[in-house]
Amino acid sequence: MDRIRVIGGQRLTGTIPISGAKNATLPLMIASLLTSDTLTLQNVPHLADVQLLARILRNHGVDSSVDGKRAGQKLLGETFHLTARQIVDTTAPYEMVRRMRASFWVLGPLLARCHKARVSLPGGCAIGTRPVDLHLLGLEALGAEINLEGGDVIARAPSGLKGGKVTFPTVSVGATHNVLMAAVLAKGESLIENAAREPEVGDVASCLIKMGAVIEGIGTSTLQVQGVDRLTGAFHAVLPDRIETGTYAMAVAATGGEVFLDGARADLLQAALDVLCEAGVEIEETNTGIKVARNGTGLQPVTIATSPFPGFPTDLQAQLMALMSIADGKSTIRETIFENRFMHVQELARLGADISLHGDTAEIAGVTRLRGAQVMATDLRASVSLVIAGLVAEGETIINRVYHLDRGFERIEEKLSRCGAQIDRIVS
Ligand code: UD1
Repeated sequence: MDRIRVIGGQRLTGTIPISGAKNATLPLMIASLLTSDTLTLQNVPHLADVQLLARILRNHGVDSSVDGKRAGQKLLGETFHLTARQIVDTTAPYEMVRRMRASFWVLGPLLARCHKARVSLPGGCAIGTRPVDLHLLGLEALGAEINLEGGDVIARAPSGLKGGKVTFPTVSVGATHNVLMAAVLAKGESLIENAAREPEVGDVASCLIKMGAVIEGIGTSTLQVQGVDRLTGAFHAVLPDRIETGTYAMAVAATGGEVFLDGARADLLQAALDVLCEAGVEIEETNTGIKVARNGTGLQPVTIATSPFPGFPTDLQAQLMALMSIADGKSTIRETIFENRFMHVQELARLGADISLHGDTAEIAGVTRLRGAQVMATDLRASVSLVIAGLVAEGETIINRVYHLDRGFERIEEKLSRCGAQIDRIVS
C-alpha cells in the first residue's frame, strides 16, 4: 500500500490549480442515468472515487468515455461523456454501494426512469452510522413504495413517481440530491423543503436545468420542481472544489508563505475564509482565484462549530484542527454534522498536538512545534489533515493508508511540491 512521506518545515510559495469538486462530480455522473442522451461533464477531477463510480454506473448501462489530453495538461480537468442509452440493470449490490456511499444516490434516478430499483443499504462507515432514512422519506413522498429486504432497499413506483411535498427534518446533502434527481422526472410539481444549500446541490440543479428539468429556488432551502416527461443530454462544467480550496488555504496558513489558488471561488467557502482571516491569515479574492498568505505573523486561536452550508463545512474540520494545533492559544471546534468524526485526533497527537475531546467538542491547545512520526490515514478529510500537520512538523512524517487521499485529492503531492513542499509518495 502506498505511503506519503513529508519532510516538514518548508514555506509554500507559488500557484495551486484547484480541481473540479468531487462532491459535485459524483451526483452529476449519477444524473446521466436520467436520460438516454449523452451528458458531457467538463472539469472532472482525476480521482479514485470518480473511476470507481464510472465502473458502478457501467453496471447499470452507462457507457463512459474520457477525452484524451496532451502532455503538460495533466493538471487540467478531464472531459467525461456519459450515455445511458438503456438501463440494463436497476440493482446496485452491496459490493458496490459498500465501496462508495454516494452510489446509493442511484436510487432516485433509477426509480424515476425505470419505476423500480433495488439498491443495497450502504452500511456503517468510519465517520458514524450515516443512515438513509431521509432519502427513503423523500422518495416515499413522491409515491415510491419502499421495502427493506436482505439489506437492500427495494423501491417501486409501478405507474411512475408523482410530485409531492418533502420536508426534511434535518439537512442532508445526499437525500437532497437523491430526491431532486427523482422529482425532475415525476408527474407534476414537487416541493423540497429544508433542502441542502451546499453549492454542489446547486451545481447539480443547474446541470439538470440544462438537461431540460424545471427547478426553482436554487441556492435556497426550498426547491420547487415541475416534473417533465424526458430529459436530454447537456454540457456542464463542474464547479471548483471548495474543500480542496480550503485545504490548501489551511496548508499555506500552517506553513507560512504565499500561494495563489487558481480557479478557486471565495463565495463557495466564505465561512472558512472568514475563520482563516480571524486566525490572522491574509486572504485576497481575485477574478480568477484566491491568494492566501501568512508572512511572519502567528496564528490566532478560533472557536467554531461545523454546520450545513453556508456554515463552516464538516469536510474542513480536521484540516482546521491540524492548523489550530500550532496556534498561539486554545481553540475550540465542535462537530455537529457527524458523530465520530474525530479519528484524526489520535493521529495528530502522535505528531505532538495537544487536543482533548469532550463529546462533540475538541479543545486544541496550540503547541510551538510538531514532530514528524508515522501516522495512519483513517478517512479522506482526516488524512489530509495529517498532510497539513506533516508540512509543519520537524523531520519526517510518514502517512500510511493513503488510498483515502486518492479518493478525494487530485495529485496532492505534485500540487504541494510545485510550491516548495518536500512531499513524495512511497509506492509499494
Ligand atoms: C455529503 C458529502 C460529505 C459531507 C456531507 C456533509 C458527498 C459525496 N459527500 O455526504 O463529504 O461531509 O455531505 O456536508 O457529497 N443523515 C440522516 N439520515 C439520512 C441522511 C443523512 O440522519 O438519510 C444524517 C447523517 O448521518 C449526518 C447528516 O445527516 O449526520 C448529514 O449527512 P449528509 O448531508 O446526508 O451527508 P452525505 O450526503 O452522506
